[in-house]
Amino acid sequence: MKPLFIIGNWKSNKFTADANSWLQEAQQFIAKDPIVENKTVVVCVPFTLLSLVNSVVQKEKLPFFVGAQDVSPFPTGAFTGEICAKQVKEFATHVIIGHSERRKNFGETNEMLFQKTKQAVDNGLTPVYLVQSDSDPVPAEVSIVGYEPVGAIGTGHPDSPENANEVAKKILAKNAHVHYVLYGGSVTAENVASFTSLSHINGVIPGGASLSPDGFFALVKNA
Ligand code: PGA
Repeated sequence: MKPLFIIGNWKSNKFTADANSWLQEAQQFIAKDPIVENKTVVVCVPFTLLSLVNSVVQKEKLPFFVGAQDVSPFPTGAFTGEICAKQVKEFATHVIIGHSERRKNFGETNEMLFQKTKQAVDNGLTPVYLVQSDSDPVPAEVSIVGYEPVGAIGTGHPDSPENANEVAKKILAKNAHVHYVLYGGSVTAENVASFTSLSHINGVIPGGASLSPDGFFALVKNA
């Protein structure tokens, strides 16, 4: 069975109480349907919840990883308001870099994203680097790329699995250092297998479908 990555992205949602109940319910779903070995599950939570989610995951030995959704392009130091990679690494193993919502709303350029990636890797975080097409440049340190066409994000209109597979194939061909391409954009428990069954796609990045534990763990099961 090929390796699959399921990277949940809570975006700017959830507070302490929601996170606690999500984690509690998650334990029940996992007990019922254990996550099979070829699947790496990561939940990318807001910075404010990293410590809490990580402490529950460690304490209860939950079989998934904790990720952040962004990281500073700068190291530790006088960068007011930034969360640097070394700080993220205290609580997380993975980090999403280059989400289209950050490129668009926060003016993140390729140059900045390359700096973020360097900071992440230098501090032991695994970057999940998001692109909107196969023409977006990918930093040399990256081995996991997520292809997320903007029109498919949060719209309920995913890309066709065939097109996503073609784009994934091109990304792999253009970037010898990339081992896995994931697809993101309106992925649900119902449509996930249509993506993960294709030859060049090694996982998915659900946003909306990661918010409720029943939907998320059904998606993990069906992937
Ligand atoms: P969506 O978001 O699943 O809600 O479309 C995916 C993403 O933005 O990563």
